[in-house]
Amino acid sequence: MPEGARRPRVGILISGRGSNMAALLDAMRDGRVEADPSVVIANVPGAAGLARAAAAGVPTAVVDHRAVTPREAHERAMIEVLERHGTDIVCLAGFMRRLTPLLIGRYRGRVLNIHPALLPAFPGLDAQRAALDHGVKITGCTVHIVDELVDHGPIVLQAAVPVLEGDTAESLSGRILEQEHLLYPRALALVASGRIVLDGRRVRLA
Ligand code: GRF
Repeated sequence: MPEGARRPRVGILISGRGSNMAALLDAMRDGRVEADPSVVIANVPGAAGLARAAAAGVPTAVVDHRAVTPREAHERAMIEVLERHGTDIVCLAGFMRRLTPLLIGRYRGRVLNIHPALLPAFPGLDAQRAALDHGVKITGCTVHIVDELVDHGPIVLQAAVPVLEGDTAESLSGRILEQEHLLYPRALALVASGRIVLDGRRVRLA
């Protein structure tokens, strides 16, 4: 980050347990990522990650997709919360809703997602089981910039995880998750530093 530049503020969207969210919050707190959390938003009331965020002293909000409809209104409500907290970068961390061009356009190139497979292999739900069932010998996780297609945008970083003899979807998911917790902070650090540039789909360091 250039000297004197304001540290970017990171909003995190979750739907569930929020272990990736916790990894991002830890990394911002201990200086591995030069950025500050702005707000954690859950679309599910009572999502476990909300309590973890609150315990870390981060503002939280619930924007319930069942209560705020239609989809555009829900997304406008999330944008309003993100903006109110001065958000520069949005991290999806187990956020189980497809975003519309509204939020993606508002934060173009600054919405990140983590996916538990080596994209473009196994996009969509249950990627660990899909990789296992397909019989691949190596899978992993991907942090990418979010565009209008699901699990599709430019790839920031990936980590490989071997599939072991005797793996179940659970054991494989657990080993991938360990790598997710390392990878997502590293990717956020790059984006927060303002050093990445897009060359077509390729993410390069400036
Ligand atoms: C992770 O496996 C992530 O890759 C996927 O959803 C899961 C979320 O887990 N997008 P958590 O809520 O971060 O613990």
